[in-house]
Amino acid sequence: MASGPGDERAIGMFDSGFGGLTVARAVIDLLPDEHLVYVGDTGRYPYGPRPQGQVRDLAHQIAGFLVDTHDVKLVIVACNTASAAALGSLQAELAVPVLGVIEPGVRSLVAATRAGRVGVIGTVGTIASGAYQRAVADTGAPVELTCAACPGFVEFVERDDTGSDQVHVLAERLLAPVVEAKVDTLLLGCTHYPYLARTIADVMGRDVVLVSSADETAFEVRAALLGEDAGADDAGGGGVGRRVPGRGPARHRFLSSGDVDWFRRLGSRLLGPELDTVERTPWA
Ligand code: DGL
Repeated sequence: MASGPGDERAIGMFDSGFGGLTVARAVIDLLPDEHLVYVGDTGRYPYGPRPQGQVRDLAHQIAGFLVDTHDVKLVIVACNTASAAALGSLQAELAVPVLGVIEPGVRSLVAATRAGRVGVIGTVGTIASGAYQRAVADTGAPVELTCAACPGFVEFVERDDTGSDQVHVLAERLLAPVVEAKVDTLLLGCTHYPYLARTIADVMGRDVVLVSSADETAFEVRAALLGEDAGADDAGGGGVGRRVPGRGPARHRFLSSGDVDWFRRLGSRLLGPELDTVERTPWA
């Protein structure tokens, strides 16, 4: 089990590619002393169009690798598609805590809405799984939910195209259901989508609040390390997130199953200076 600020083992996290770096950024900012191992499975992305069983197998392989090879103390499934397909089975199988991004995102969504008309966009796999529809219903919040799948968005981000005319035209088409539903708050239910926030905001209009799960997930990680309930009002964070005296600088390791040079070039632009070297996963 994770044992709080004194446990020097790394936090492990993974995504199909670059998207989970939005969550990594939030975790590094909130928990600057924590070591991190990030796997971007760019050699096998996108996960969104794959059958759930296949995504589950990939998620178990990567999470097992993080625990067995990197001895991580906690695993973050920094991918909505993998969270939808495998969070429950990973939590049942692994001996360390496993956190996903769906529930934290939904908490932010229902907290942010003013009129109660909310939207969630995600990959085909995530939206078809019904995971968001269930998670929103489980909150009991009196909201009207509209979901839309956005096939193609992930590929644009992985190619470093977040603002072209092409992605704008695609966004206008794919976001039509949530525009028509007049949602006042839209959850970016794919960890890649915050990189398209400007395009999405242009299409949705300036009155619509865009919410991502990254910050709320980081708060949940901090609460898990402290053994607290992330939703609790008094989950204040204690000593986690502050510099731990006597501990060396945090190590942030990044691994990719695809082109490691591309991962370093684009990843360092997306995440920041912490991503300066990229290692190859054993299955690359
Ligand atoms: N970042 C992943 C997610 O949150 C992208 C999925 C994909 O690879 O299609 O769902």
